[in-house]
Amino acid sequence: MYKLLRQILFLFPPERVHYLSMNALRFLRRTGVGKIIAALYYPKGDHHFTAFGIRFPNRVGLGAGFDKNARYLRELQLLGFGFVETGTITPLPQAGNDKPRLFRLPKDKALINRMGFNNDGVKVIADRLKSWKEQKCSSGLIIGGNIGKNKATPNEDAWKDYEVCFKELHPYVDYFVVNVSSPNTPGLRELQEKESLRKILTHLQVINRQQAQQRPLLLKIAPDLSLEQIDDVIDLALEIKLDGLVATNTTISREGLLTDKRKTDAIGAGGLSGKPLEKKSTEVVRYICEKTKGKIPVIASGGIFTGADAKEKTDAGALLVQVWTGFIYEGPGIVKSICKTISIQ
Ligand SMILES: Cc1cc2nc3c(=O)[nH]c(=O)nc-3n(C[C@H](O)[C@H](O)[C@H](O)COP(=O)(O)O)c2cc1C
Repeated sequence: MYKLLRQILFLFPPERVHYLSMNALRFLRRTGVGKIIAALYYPKGDHHFTAFGIRFPNRVGLGAGFDKNARYLRELQLLGFGFVETGTITPLPQAGNDKPRLFRLPKDKALINRMGFNNDGVKVIADRLKSWKEQKCSSGLIIGGNIGKNKATPNEDAWKDYEVCFKELHPYVDYFVVNVSSPNTPGLRELQEKESLRKILTHLQVINRQQAQQRPLLLKIAPDLSLEQIDDVIDLALEIKLDGLVATNTTISREGLLTDKRKTDAIGAGGLSGKPLEKKSTEVVRYICEKTKGKIPVIASGGIFTGADAKEKTDAGALLVQVWTGFIYEGPGIVKSICKTISIQ
């Protein structure tokens, strides 16, 4: 059924279809069809899982960048997601890069994007999350706040942007992810260097300790880091007692694609996600988990389409998994289907 719908959806520009589909889902929910959607797609049975001291309804989350502005939380909850990572959120609103900036590579079951942190800005999103919390409609859905810096902020001042976002969102999110690994903000990935990371992360930890309730703080890393760079991240994470890592973001590599090179050349710069990223991101997860003997909890992201894909990530040591491109290709049944395979093991 979704395969047919996908064929139709794929006839239209990806970014437009994204909002069209989510708005259609919202319309259906408002006209009272929500219960039917949940009956179809919400995973049956008890899949609760505790990580970072948080009780997740299940281990399957939606990766950052899908609901950048926290506008579709109820709809995503109906589809069974255990957690949704909103963002990346920056202090000031941003339009992002020029369109088109999202491309499908159907032969590879992949996407390329150079969105560039388009978002409503932290104030608007914090307000939205506040009313979501107040309406008590969350019923267990866990919200992650993925935070970044504005494009115009120089890297030396990046820590201030992370601080603004962290403070504004602190009352309304359950955990934080510091994003320094998106390829679409010029220079951002340089912040993955150990001393830059130390400055940003330790500063946020100090602010965190001053709050009545602390939020787990995680770091999201790129799949393109060298082993030396991953070792640096691991050393730092252990030293400063970071709560966890999200591995991985999209890749800048175009290796091994089935799609014609002329097509990918014409698309140009951007982060590649989906099936071509799967192996690389599993390797990163496995490397971190083996090297630290599981001391650093990991959320796996990259090329997860099926229960078997998710199991590969949990076998590699990940506690939780996130989908994004897989959701586009597999459709609304993805959470239910993965939960069947990676329920409490
Ligand atoms: C269109 C698009 C936008 C994204 N935006 C963000 C973002 O704003 N912040 C972030 O940390 N990751 C972002 N990502 C990366 C995803 O969260 C995820 O880590 C990556 O796509 C790998 O997972 P996948 O293969 O399941 O898609 C984005 C991915 C896509 C496809």
